[in-house]
Amino acid sequence: MIDLGVDLGPVRLSTPLVAASGTFGSVVEFAEVADLRAYGALTVKSVAPEPWPGNPPPRLAPLEAGMLNAIGIQNPGIDRWVEEVAPELARLDVPVWGSAVAHDPVGFATVAEGFADAGLAAVEVNLSCPNLDGELFALDPAASAEVVARVRSAVDLPVGVKLSPDASDVVAVAEAVVEAGADWLVLTNTARGTAVDPRSGEPLVARGAGGISGTALRPIALGCVRRVAEHLDVPIVGCGGVSTGRHVLEYLRAGARAVALGTVHFEHPRAALRILRELRRELRRLGVAGIGDLVAS
Ligand SMILES: Cc1cc2nc3c(=O)[nH]c(=O)nc-3n(C[C@H](O)[C@H](O)[C@H](O)COP(=O)(O)O)c2cc1C
Repeated sequence: MIDLGVDLGPVRLSTPLVAASGTFGSVVEFAEVADLRAYGALTVKSVAPEPWPGNPPPRLAPLEAGMLNAIGIQNPGIDRWVEEVAPELARLDVPVWGSAVAHDPVGFATVAEGFADAGLAAVEVNLSCPNLDGELFALDPAASAEVVARVRSAVDLPVGVKLSPDASDVVAVAEAVVEAGADWLVLTNTARGTAVDPRSGEPLVARGAGGISGTALRPIALGCVRRVAEHLDVPIVGCGGVSTGRHVLEYLRAGARAVALGTVHFEHPRAALRILRELRRELRRLGVAGIGDLVAS
């Protein structure tokens, strides 16, 4: 039997698959359709210190090789989230990670405290949503480190940090957040881009631009994983365009310990089970006893 367990710093995952933030509903709805045992952890949609309405519609557009989204992190704010969503999550027997977003370091810490009080297993610091006003924290090593240091000192939870493929030097940002206390990195969030209706000239999302996810993102995110893994000794969750077991193996080979599944859920909500089956087959072919062997090799 192949051992699919992986260590992510202080955390052990029973499988290398993580549900990516924002692509799994509030997690509660998905629990009804997906087989949660396929996942080592589930990430909730990002939550802010106060309610955010998100961007005006249309906010989603299909691309030839993925998806464009400009949701803008519509969320109820941490207080209502703790009241309404958190109790529902407590009955799931898969570790749930909170995802924190805010406009300033104190806001990130406030959300992380809410997650800690709600008993979540870890906090993912989302420094990299491209659909908000202002610059991404994840483009700037110092600004990113300040947020992570705040969160680190506010809570005892393990801290993952989600970075952007749009950083001009993703290794510098990665180094800064690891120095500030990140236990692992999630590489990556969506990449900035747009799509335009050639007849009307109108952008396909009302905001004018959004984040590219899915197949088109995979080589870009994979490149970030490889660069960071070459320079830093930190656990990495690869994220971008994974839809098969072979893609998981690509990320593991590039230096990731685990991968997050996002856009694939929109078409195939139960994809994780198939992907795990495919991964087992790939690992058997390679003759390795578990992912640990592969990561170490
Ligand atoms: C509709 C949609 C909503 C998303 N919302 C969030 C979010 O709230 N927080 C976050 O960190 N990432 C969010 N993401 C980014 C995903 O978690 C993931 O990083 C990205 O989609 C790349 O993975 P994929 O190619 O497998 O989809 C969202 C992505 C999509 C498509």
